[in-house]
Amino acid sequence: MSKRKGIILAGGLGSRLHPLTDVSSKQLLPVYDKPMIYYPLSILMQLGMKDILIISSPEDLPRFKSLLGSGTKWGINLSFKMQKKPNGIAEALILGKNFLKENPSCLILGDNLFFGEKLISKLKIANRDILNASVLTYPVNDPGRYGILEKKNNKPYKIIEKPSKPKSNKAITGIYFYPKNVSLEAKKLKPSKRRELEISDLNQTYLLKEKLSVTELDKKSTWLDCGTFESLLNASNFVSKIQNKQNKKVACLEEIAYKNNWISKKHIKAIIKVSTSSYGNYLNKIIN
Ligand code: G1P
Repeated sequence: MSKRKGIILAGGLGSRLHPLTDVSSKQLLPVYDKPMIYYPLSILMQLGMKDILIISSPEDLPRFKSLLGSGTKWGINLSFKMQKKPNGIAEALILGKNFLKENPSCLILGDNLFFGEKLISKLKIANRDILNASVLTYPVNDPGRYGILEKKNNKPYKIIEKPSKPKSNKAITGIYFYPKNVSLEAKKLKPSKRRELEISDLNQTYLLKEKLSVTELDKKSTWLDCGTFESLLNASNFVSKIQNKQNKKVACLEEIAYKNNWISKKHIKAIIKVSTSSYGNYLNKIIN
């Protein structure tokens, strides 16, 4: 049976976060109490994906390797691949060709945070459809910053990357589900004016073939990208607030792995032994 594999793209220059990103990758910056990349990783794990490829720049890839390791601590298999230059999001699917083989995929951006039980159940529905591509939209105030979905006769019609005159406020979020052989589709793309292989162009090819399903999220779900100082601070505040309110951590990878039966109690106990922060106390609560 073909099994969906995950790809996290943690690339880009993070130039909008200078000087925070001068010597650190954006996706390694803290979002409240965890490195940013934990959040997208937690989403793939909640969707049941165990084989995950992390793609990053030559400078940052070793840092991700030392933070995450092989993934055995969470019962998953992590692989790593270098993106030599920031040639666009769709290039991740070309770089992932040997990793994906004949499997369907889910690409998630390393700076995208998704929260909410309803949202997770919508992602689970998209995850189940292995024959079509799926994307999700979210209403935004600054559509010029995103890939935007245009509709005609109430049907998805066009996806445009960072339109100068946006015709809607429906931003395509940074999680993309594809059927098998997406690498071949991505290879056919031509670089855009900003010399990138655009994920919006790839999604547009599936839309034209009537093989793209679109789920529209509303403000009851939370979607944050952490590309600016403001959105990074919002994300930290949001995680802190929700964790205090629910008395439950967001994106606790050990907790997800334990609930998925991917790691044992003994395994968590070993982690608690070396954890001196409140993270250890939290893990203790989970297993008792
Ligand atoms: C990228 C994509 C865009 C998408 C956004 C979501 O933009 O190109 O289509 O809407 O991620 O975060 P970027 O963050 O690279 O500007």
